[in-house]
Amino acid sequence: MIIAANWKMNPPLADAGQLVSAYTQTNFDGVQRVLFPPHPYLVHMAMRLEGSGILLGGQDCHQSAAGAFTGDVAAGMLRECGASMVLLGHSERRAGHGESDELVAAKASAALEAGLSTMICIGESLDERERGRAEEVVSRQLDKSLPDGVPADRLVIAYEPVWAIGTGKVASETEIGAMHQSVSRQLAELGLGGVPILYGGSVKPDNAASILAIDDVGGALVGGASLKADDFAAICAAAELAV
Ligand code: 13P
Repeated sequence: MIIAANWKMNPPLADAGQLVSAYTQTNFDGVQRVLFPPHPYLVHMAMRLEGSGILLGGQDCHQSAAGAFTGDVAAGMLRECGASMVLLGHSERRAGHGESDELVAAKASAALEAGLSTMICIGESLDERERGRAEEVVSRQLDKSLPDGVPADRLVIAYEPVWAIGTGKVASETEIGAMHQSVSRQLAELGLGGVPILYGGSVKPDNAASILAIDDVGGALVGGASLKADDFAAICAAAELAV
């Protein structure tokens, strides 16, 4: 089970220090935790996480190794700051920064080249789900967002229906089960069987156990609830029971 905390553009640095301290005071058997803090906090977080077993990741990277790209961050820089993973293709980047599947794949290639593992996000919009196109959209995103030759042991997929992110709405167990089964089948066809598939979108302490019990759900990518130490710990405890 992988439980990942995506802090997005939160919280203030002083609160981040307290939050990460609380993370490191807990331990969950069989649960790999990953923290994706804002980029300026990486070095600070790397020091705080040392010896905790919690992995550190960046929330994005550029597709080039270096160059004149003001405001961007290279995968190798994330690695130098203590990250071992990078989150790519989050729907907030696809929507807010116009990131295409092809760009996500190029960023993933750069990340692999720099020695990072990749967590690639896919997920349909509400309109796509209502029109019965969810599986087709997600399947196309998966196909096009993966870089050539990605090794299975450096890939994690996060299925995050866009309409469930930060809304309090969660996909039903049937919807999650069907999508994870379809993604799992597609990964197996690509020679990537066994790659963990996380669910994301309003995962909270009160729904974590039932979501994590669904077949082909290998963990959760948690936004809002990861900003509260007790809520994140409760989700990790549910994962420990689901292992
Ligand atoms: P919420 O858990 O706040 O819905 O966010 C999910 C998410 O986008 C994690 O990447």
